[in-house]
Amino acid sequence: MVTIGATSRAKEEFAPELLAVALYKGETPQDLGEDAAGVVSDGDFGGKPGETALLYGQRAPASRLLLVGLGERDLFSPEKLRRAAATVARRARALQLQTAAFSLPEVPDARTKEIARTIAEGARLGLYRFDRHKSAAEDQELETFWIVAEEGELEEAAGGAELGSKVAEGAVLARDLANEPSNVATPEYLAERARRIAADYGMELKVLDRAGIEEEGLTGLATVGRSASNEQRFIVLEHRAGGEAAPVVLVGKAVTFDSGGISIKPSAGMEDMKFDMSGGAAVLGAMEIVGALELPLDVVALVPATENLPGGDAFKPGDVLQMHSGKTVEIVTTDAEGRLILADALSYARRYEPSAVVDCATLTGACVVALGAHASGLMGNDEDLIAELQVAGETTGEKAWPLPLFAEYTEQIKGDTADIKNSGGRGGGALTAGAFLKEFADYPWAHLDIAGTAYGKKGNPYTTKGATGIPARLLVEFLLGRTQ
Ligand code: BES
Ligand code: MN
Ligand code: ZN
Repeated sequence: MVTIGATSRAKEEFAPELLAVALYKGETPQDLGEDAAGVVSDGDFGGKPGETALLYGQRAPASRLLLVGLGERDLFSPEKLRRAAATVARRARALQLQTAAFSLPEVPDARTKEIARTIAEGARLGLYRFDRHKSAAEDQELETFWIVAEEGELEEAAGGAELGSKVAEGAVLARDLANEPSNVATPEYLAERARRIAADYGMELKVLDRAGIEEEGLTGLATVGRSASNEQRFIVLEHRAGGEAAPVVLVGKAVTFDSGGISIKPSAGMEDMKFDMSGGAAVLGAMEIVGALELPLDVVALVPATENLPGGDAFKPGDVLQMHSGKTVEIVTTDAEGRLILADALSYARRYEPSAVVDCATLTGACVVALGAHASGLMGNDEDLIAELQVAGETTGEKAWPLPLFAEYTEQIKGDTADIKNSGGRGGGALTAGAFLKEFADYPWAHLDIAGTAYGKKGNPYTTKGATGIPARLLVEFLLGRTQ
């Protein structure tokens, strides 16, 4: 794993193999020597986002100088810097280097710590790969990534590098968990990982097994997981550092494999349903960060974890369940399983008298149709909470966009033989799923549908094909906002 730190040029031992300097579009580099000035004046480097130029034979501290574009100065965003840092880190690794450095750019109206944090996140996430099941080694790992600051900014830059590294490490955990195939990442595997977080950071952990889940009356989770031989788990992880304040509860859907059950999915692409535990993975990743940062808050994570498989003992369309809350649900399709396990977690959360509950779930294909891979769907019953999450999404580059939960969507899921049904048909599928969850939340609550954002093909310089870790960083940013 790469070490990310801050240093100043004045340090004598500072001799990276590559120095990267970020440049805005159309601006001429100062003090970088003739070659850099030339590559810009000759028009070979314009400073567009993602653009690079690599120069050799440069003067100290590094013989390699990598120019990387940040786009228009007036249109700066942290996301552009995150991506630029990732581009630099990846290029250094592709060159088989051990050390690279990135000069802290001048950013209008931004604090040094935030800039350094953003660079650290981009570098660490950019270097991520999921290769533990590959026999042959890939490129050697970059060992050290320096953020270069002026002497006077060094302390802030170091703080930012540490913060960014810790945040990125939690997102890496979320990616790792989600990328693991379902024969590895079983419900018990997730529980085991939660045990490690609890031990590392002194959190409270409770794991309910199948019998415990039935006893607690978590009918949705008991029913969805009934036919699987990898038993379901209900994971409760509590970070208590907020004194008397009401906790924030994070809920993550963790269907470790979603075959659809008796309402079985088409086989093409079904392998992607190993990612159907990405919500739970992100919540565990967020808790890892909460622990590492010792956030002065009470935060509770609830992760219902199960497989959804057909079998002789499987639940069936037409079945009626009495949920943990007491409400009855008619099963229209066993493929709408996520909302069943989340509903129970949401009603379990009532006992905490939470100040806010945020759930995240790869819940609907309809959300992918609505927003694609570029934003998570955001719904809820509290405008302020929704606004906080939207801002956190913008800050972290894990964008979330509000969608409506009009009363008509609740109308659409009224049951025929039970109180409600678990599908409202094709129209507004993301919203009827949200409306279903809303029936179980009687506190400030918001829901992130991450079906389009949690995994995918290679998206930007700091993601790879597979899991993105979304929304682990968004959740932490939201929590950081609550510490102020
Ligand atoms: N896990 C899926 C949602 C999903 C679909 C995630 C595609 C990622 C990509 C969820 O359990 C599901 O199957 N939802 C159904 C609900 C429908 C049957 C009401 C869907 O979206 O089709
Ligand atoms: Mn499903
Ligand atoms: Zn699912």
